[in-house]
Amino acid sequence: MFETLTALPPDSILGLSAAFKKDPNPHKIDLGVGVYKDEQGNTPILECVASAQHLLLASETSKVYITPQGNQGFIDGMLRLLLGENSFVLNHNRVAAVQAPGGCGALRILAELLIRIDENTTVWVSDPTWANHMPLLGDAGLTLKTYPYFDKDNASIKFDEMMDCLSKVGPNDVVLLHGCCHNPTGADLSKEQWQDVAALAAKVGFLPFVDTAYQGFGDGIEEDTYGLRLLIDSVDEVIVAASCSKNFGLYRERVGLAAIICKDEKTRDIAQSQIQSVARGIYSMPPSYGGALVDIILNDKALYTTWTNEVNAMRVRMATLRQMLVTNLQQQNVDKDFSFINAQKGMFSFLCIPPQQVQQLRDEHSIYFVDSSRVNIAGINHNNVGTLAKAIAQTL
Ligand code: LMR
Repeated sequence: MFETLTALPPDSILGLSAAFKKDPNPHKIDLGVGVYKDEQGNTPILECVASAQHLLLASETSKVYITPQGNQGFIDGMLRLLLGENSFVLNHNRVAAVQAPGGCGALRILAELLIRIDENTTVWVSDPTWANHMPLLGDAGLTLKTYPYFDKDNASIKFDEMMDCLSKVGPNDVVLLHGCCHNPTGADLSKEQWQDVAALAAKVGFLPFVDTAYQGFGDGIEEDTYGLRLLIDSVDEVIVAASCSKNFGLYRERVGLAAIICKDEKTRDIAQSQIQSVARGIYSMPPSYGGALVDIILNDKALYTTWTNEVNAMRVRMATLRQMLVTNLQQQNVDKDFSFINAQKGMFSFLCIPPQQVQQLRDEHSIYFVDSSRVNIAGINHNNVGTLAKAIAQTL
C-alpha cells in the first residue's frame, strides 16, 4: 500500500541539521534551524528552567492525565504575559485558551477550529512566511493566499502593497501576522504600521491571527506584545498561537498556547469547549512537563526575574551579533550594503542573496542556512564571524 506514495525531499529547515551533521568540514557553520546558541555554539538549558526542573521533581506526585485544557497555572501565566496584567479581555473573561504541544500545535488547533467554523476559510499569510505555516494551516484544509510583505531587492517591508492587498480581503477571511521577530525576514512592522493594520482590521472585518514565537527577542518582553495588544483593543476577535520553544529554551518539550479572544463571555465558553474538543480529536491532552516548568517560572517571583534577565541577555547578544556581522562584511569591502541586518529583529535575517549563492556557500564553505537566504543570527559567534563574512564576500 505504501509504495503508492512518493518519497519527499528533506524538510527545508530541519533537513539542514541532518546535512550539517554529515559534513566533515571542521570549520562548518550552522545558521539553519532557529535555535539559540551561546558563544560556544551550545544551546544550554536556561537557569530558570534548571531550577524549575528541580522544584517539579521534588513536588510532582503523580503522572495521571492533566486536564484537557492543560495546566491552568501555565495558561493564566502565559495569558498575562501576552495580554498584560490588567488586560480588559482577561478581566471580562473573554479569552478561551488551551496549552498546546508547541507553537505548531497551537497553530494546528486554531486552524482546525477555523475549519469547523467554515471549511472554505481563507488565511492570508505574508510573502514570505515561515515554511511550516503552509502544512500546519493548509493540511487542516484552510485555503492559503499570500499578501506582499518583504522586498528582497530593497530589504524592506512592502507596506503600501501589503495594506492595499489586505484592504481587499473578505470580512470572513483570516490574516496571519507575526507578533514580533518576523520569521524568516526579521523585518517587523513599526508601531505606526501596526496602528494602520489594526485600523484596517476594524474597517474590513478580517480576523487577525497572531503567531508569536519570539516574545522578548525583538525589543523586550512587554514591547514585543505591542501589535497583539493593539489588535485586541481594536477588534472584538483575535486568535493567538504562542510558543515557549525559543524564549524559554524548551524546544523539545513542545510547549505553546492557543488562545481565542472572543466578543463576549458566552462566546468564550463555546470557543473553549470547541478547542478542547479539537485537541481531544488530535492528541487528547497536551504533554505536562514543559507547561509545568513554565507555570513554575511565571508564578515564582525570583524565577520570573531570572527568566526575564536570561531573555534580555539573549536579545542583547543577538543584536550585538548582528552588528558584528555587518562590521565584518564591511571590512571585507563587499559592494552590497548589509546594514539592513542591524535594523532587523530577533533570531533571523534575510541576507537577500539568491538561492544559487546560498547553495554555493553550503557547497564550497560548509555554511548552512535556508535557501531563502534566512540566517539564524544566534549561530554566529566571535570564532566564526570572520570566516562567514569572508565566505559571503567571496561568493558575492
Ligand atoms: C525555525 O524556523 O527554524 C524553527 O521555528 C524551527 C522549525 O520548526 O522550523
